[in-house]
Amino acid sequence: MNPTALLLAAFILSIAGLFAFIWSLRKGLFDADVSGARTIFHKGEIGQPEEPSAGEAQRQALSLAAADHLVENHGQQTSVLEMAAREQADRSSSLPAFLLIVCAVVWLVVASFAGLISSLKLHWPEFLGDVSWLSFGRLRTIHLNGVAYGWAPMGLLGLTIWMLPRLLQTPLLGGRLVIVGGLVWNAALVAGIGALAIGLNAGMEWLEIPWQIGVLFAFGGMMIGMPLALMLSQRKVKHLYVSVWYIGAALFWFPILYLVAKVPGVHFGVEQATMNWWFGHNVLGLFYTPMSIAAIYYFLPKVIGRPVRSYNLSLLGFWTLAFFYGQVGAHHLIGGPIPEWLITLSIVQSVMMVIPVLAFSANQHLTLKGHFSALRHSPVLRFIVFGAMMYTAASLQGSAEALRSLNSITHFTHFTVAHAHLGMYGFVTMVIFGGVYFALPRILNTAWPRPALISWHFWLVVAGFAVYMITLSIGGVLQGLALLDPALAARSFDRWCLDDLGSPGICSARLADGCDVGCFCVDRVSLGDGAPYR
Ligand code: HEM
Ligand code: HEM
Repeated sequence: MNPTALLLAAFILSIAGLFAFIWSLRKGLFDADVSGARTIFHKGEIGQPEEPSAGEAQRQALSLAAADHLVENHGQQTSVLEMAAREQADRSSSLPAFLLIVCAVVWLVVASFAGLISSLKLHWPEFLGDVSWLSFGRLRTIHLNGVAYGWAPMGLLGLTIWMLPRLLQTPLLGGRLVIVGGLVWNAALVAGIGALAIGLNAGMEWLEIPWQIGVLFAFGGMMIGMPLALMLSQRKVKHLYVSVWYIGAALFWFPILYLVAKVPGVHFGVEQATMNWWFGHNVLGLFYTPMSIAAIYYFLPKVIGRPVRSYNLSLLGFWTLAFFYGQVGAHHLIGGPIPEWLITLSIVQSVMMVIPVLAFSANQHLTLKGHFSALRHSPVLRFIVFGAMMYTAASLQGSAEALRSLNSITHFTHFTVAHAHLGMYGFVTMVIFGGVYFALPRILNTAWPRPALISWHFWLVVAGFAVYMITLSIGGVLQGLALLDPALAARSFDRWCLDDLGSPGICSARLADGCDVGCFCVDRVSLGDGAPYR
């Protein structure tokens, strides 16, 4: 199996996808009838916001802001039977979704701690320098794997499992498979982190965990994804809402990506590096990103009580993401010893990503238009909208960063780290938090005990995040320019990096504070500290 052949096959597949897209246009998928966008609302529900983390006064303010849309129900009233069916659907997913979310939070705490110590080590390299498993190289890898295989997938999968019965209007099937899959996945991660701590590392970024352990992620992921396959035939909705498309694609893509990238004894040398980054950006673009977008497409309209403004635009976003994302991986290897055409292809596709990103952003903006005041009243909406904005920012930044001229400066610098956190923290993490603040009161039938903490969580993260992003981005560009300067001796460069980039440690601490408050809230509500939620 040759990685170049595999990449070419992926390219041909996406061209085939393009034809499928043209066919769907002909079949009227893009007609003006946008009833698909209403699939997530029951009869009479448009104009009635759902915001489980808001207090009574906030909920009233949200209802007032959405009242204009009540006419879109054309006089239909909410049916008691349908509401009872939704409650049953919510109950069916509560245990597996809760377990996945709890695992996510545990991994967030572990990984953030490792990230925080790594960050401090950038400032004080001697700090905890005598213990091998606490060295920067190992802790950084533990941090990355903790968020990449712990926090982000567990949080997103937890939300997915919770959303599926609502999206398909049928109780969850295969809940036990989800629990077993979750156990398999987490057991693999515990073993994988242990392996990294004792120095067993496969030597490829994002694929560091040895394949004998990592293969369990693919099997665990498949088990967690099974309910979708089981429920599709039992669904009560005629139309599959766009979130289901994104979820279905992500659940299908992940095991394939992981298994292809990890097949032992096949990928060597630069071919292996190519495969490494084919996986690296695909796991971001075809796994975390679609699942986060699916969550935004569900929670944002539900919180403001208004269907997505342009349903067709959401489908355009889906298909173009599927066509272009698969080939961007080689932009991580610009300047590396791999065929130029492959790098050029990845740059072209990176720039083409502007299409799905703008389709998504325009749609969210148009949906929210006239409802911006809801941001004052809904804690969930703040997280979700911030996440959506950071998706746009990270992606547009990424398209620019993929250009050879800019990449020659930013590659190997803190600019890339800032971009990584813009995407994985600003976008993915914030969306997960928003989703968890929405879903958990439903899952546990308990209101948030201290809603004010949710606001604290949001503002602490935003403040820490802003400082982190600005300092690392500016510092990264200066670092890149300095790296390109042959007159600067290596030693003075190191010193300059430590002095100039000193702030990340402090800012990271703020980011961690924000996380802690969020975790604290999750913790309290899990312990049944809140009042029963109606
Ligand atoms: C308390 C919060 C966090 C702190 C202090 C922190 C700190 C760090 C540090 C110090 C690095 C290594 C930078 C380097 O190699 O120069 C790093 C890398 C990384 N972190 Fe975080 N991080 C935090 C939260 C997160 C979260 C929540 C995510 C994802 C959801 C995340 C994703 C990543 C990724 C993907 C990388 C690799 C970046 C690259 O190789 O360019 N981090 N982080
Ligand atoms: C149009 C969309 C995007 C493009 C074109 C893009 C492009 C890039 C480029 C060029 C790099 C730097 C490669 C280097 O010089 O080493 C990069 C790194 C990275 N990007 Fe993006 N990006 C996009 C969106 C995103 C999103 C949405 C996320 C998060 C969900 C994300 C997460 C990351 C991470 C984590 C890295 C660091 C990987 C590592 O070195 O470990 N990107 N991206």
